[in-house]
Amino acid sequence: MSYQNIVILTGAGISQESGLGTFRDNGGLWAEYAIEDVATPEAFAANPRLVYDFYNMRRAELLKDEISFNSAHQALADFESHFAGQFKLVTQNVDNLHEAAGSKSLIHMHGELQKARCLFCGHISMWEDDLDEKSICPSCQDTRGMRPHIVWFGEMPLQMDDIYSLLADCDLFVSIGTSGNVYPAAGFVQIANDAGAHTVELNLEPSQGATLFKEKIYGKASEIVPAFLKGLGR
Ligand code: OAD
Repeated sequence: MSYQNIVILTGAGISQESGLGTFRDNGGLWAEYAIEDVATPEAFAANPRLVYDFYNMRRAELLKDEISFNSAHQALADFESHFAGQFKLVTQNVDNLHEAAGSKSLIHMHGELQKARCLFCGHISMWEDDLDEKSICPSCQDTRGMRPHIVWFGEMPLQMDDIYSLLADCDLFVSIGTSGNVYPAAGFVQIANDAGAHTVELNLEPSQGATLFKEKIYGKASEIVPAFLKGLGR
């Protein structure tokens, strides 16, 4: 079967072998930190220092020399560069490993660690240093308004209209390295099924929504993603 409209969803599992921790596996970030302390607008209002520190720590982790894309990121970028049909990669990840590997048609639905947004003027800027209350918006020059460009719990993920219209038109939907705990991403498989698409889960273990997928392959992303994409042809 050859596909014309492919949508791929990725989660923290694809970056695990690059050295970035996942959220819900043993020892994952949400075992160490409470979501309500560091990943909600209320947390930022109540204790901005803690929230800034959490994302400063994650940004610094991402920028370490030893963190780089792996063969799963690479295989997706290579596939995209040779594929003749429509291809869109939607990631829940806030790291930059897909673009580092060369992916071009990419939506960061949960934001990006290396960007900051000004609450006053809305300007989004690249940000590689630590962020805090004294950070100055490069556009309006105001302080106290710079926040991580991250979608927190209770906020709307980015580019949802684009994503829903891609899902409604896709003939192949592949979910990689996500536990299927967080909506709206966890609901994408059902939308793709309703659109008549073939749906595939590539993960270390069955996700919350595993039964919704028509095909499932379990193993390490660095192994099963390149093998699966090779099998698709171009
Ligand atoms: P999770 O930590 O919930 O799930 C990671 C999934 O990857 C699990 O199902 C693991 O089994 C799988 N996994 C781990 N290592 C793997 C490997 N080497 N190869 C393949 N799979 C592997 O992360 P997400 O599903 O991405 O949101 O989490 C979704 C959202 O919840 C995140 O974007 C974040 C978080 O709270 C926000 O912060 C808004």
